[in-house]
Amino acid sequence: MRKRFYITTPIYYVNAAPHIGHAYTSIAADVLARWKRLDGYDVFFLTGTDEHGQKVAKAARDEGLEPQAFVDRVSAEFRAMAARMNISNDDFIRTTEPRHYAACSELWRRLVANGHIYLGHYEGWYAVRDEAFYGEDELVIGPDGTKLAPSGAPVEWVREPSYFFRLSAWQNKLLEFYENNPDFIAPPSRRNEVLSFVRSGLSDLSISRTSFRWGVPVPGDADHVMYVWLDALTNYITAAGFPNENSERWAFWPADVHIVGKEIVRFHAVYWPAFLMAAGIAPPKRVFGHGWWTVEGQKMSKSLGNVIDPCALADTYGVDPVRYFLLREVPFGNDGDFSYRSLVNRLNQELANDLGNLAQRSLMLVARECGGQRPEASGLTADDLSLKNAAYALPEILRDKLDRQALHEALDEIWKVIRAANIYIDRQAPWVLRKTDPRRMATVLRVLLDSLRVIATVLQPFMPASMARMLDQLGVPQDLRNNASLAVDLPSGVALPAPSAVFPRFVEKAT
Ligand code: MSP
Repeated sequence: MRKRFYITTPIYYVNAAPHIGHAYTSIAADVLARWKRLDGYDVFFLTGTDEHGQKVAKAARDEGLEPQAFVDRVSAEFRAMAARMNISNDDFIRTTEPRHYAACSELWRRLVANGHIYLGHYEGWYAVRDEAFYGEDELVIGPDGTKLAPSGAPVEWVREPSYFFRLSAWQNKLLEFYENNPDFIAPPSRRNEVLSFVRSGLSDLSISRTSFRWGVPVPGDADHVMYVWLDALTNYITAAGFPNENSERWAFWPADVHIVGKEIVRFHAVYWPAFLMAAGIAPPKRVFGHGWWTVEGQKMSKSLGNVIDPCALADTYGVDPVRYFLLREVPFGNDGDFSYRSLVNRLNQELANDLGNLAQRSLMLVARECGGQRPEASGLTADDLSLKNAAYALPEILRDKLDRQALHEALDEIWKVIRAANIYIDRQAPWVLRKTDPRRMATVLRVLLDSLRVIATVLQPFMPASMARMLDQLGVPQDLRNNASLAVDLPSGVALPAPSAVFPRFVEKAT
């Protein structure tokens, strides 16, 4: 039986259109999902939309729409964004779906049955923008003297009946869980933040609201809707078939990794495992908190008008260059700054020049000097072997990097080989050999083609469409475009299609 791998993105709030920050999380998770498929795993990759709560209800009201009509529209925009960015999700969950109501209700019933929920009264601060409760001691004072959430979101005083989850009882069990699962939270800086948060003591968590209706009703008490984060987190088991633990999908639970932004690590690494353990369900294996993008040095915001639409970006620069740039520019886990100049530089340097040109030069020579057929290697030199071996070592190296979600390191390793191949082609100068030693020229070109095949194979998760084109040009059959098939040598003497540039240089249009 094939090994399983379950990976998720957060489900995105549908209060506004998708932007580059959302695309970033989805692309990162997509690369990891595609990598696992390439490596022979049976993958379940989930994304979707978070459609309940005050924040979304308010956005609908602001547009004068019924919440359902509003969320239908914005959810469709997120679905379209995923398609446009070539996200290979296996399911798209919406929290307004009946299957999700069923899962939330059952989770709630189990928490009640196990004695983890009680009815009380909430009085305290709430930030609608974060959909989060805050203690007085966590608040900060804004520039105009008002109290703000640590995120800078406005807070309001809430006073209402509420069901509570006995989170306080989970402090030690959570600490024990983190101790026994040192890889549960990554990167380490996020782990430390969570540890100190939990060590400082946990209060019981308000998990229902009565002041608005836009949520999943609490079983047996129609005055309450579930707190949107309890509802939202449950999506990960809904899509895995919960509560039907006999469903095929359930075999994927627990999830291997939840990819999330750093601001929501706490919900995923504290509340979520506590809810699950309390309900007798296994917690996920890992939560990875990535950093945030600013744009040309500034926070992205509607009021600054600098929100970047990933689809528009893809229209101008191409989907694959955007995917590549986002994962190459910033170590995954760190914050980063988006700039058009850097995007264009990387596209022209690393994609068009380093990789595109290498493929183009090699394939043009094969087209011209080898009758357009895959050449045969005879007698490999140390130089040939050193390039070939470096290329063939990539899957093993990347496996280790990508199991740790070190996407930037994976690209770095691939580019080391690409740079080595560029040095190799210049040193071997097959365009000179064509006159002096055609057999040697054939060998050099074959070494280049074989190395490019490995490079294009392992780059597929990052740039699926471009690498499919490169593999077409290299004449690699569809069923051999995976890591295991790299062991299969391709026959020489086979006609290759006419080469064409995979990454055209981006030239700024004169205005
Ligand atoms: N609905 C919750 C998540 C529930 S998961 C059970 C939520 N939604 S969100 O629409 O606000 O999207 C949050 C995610 O989008 C972040 O976790 C992060 O992954 C991504 N980003 C949003 N803005 C971002 C940046 N400026 N930079 C990078 N990623 C950011 O929170």
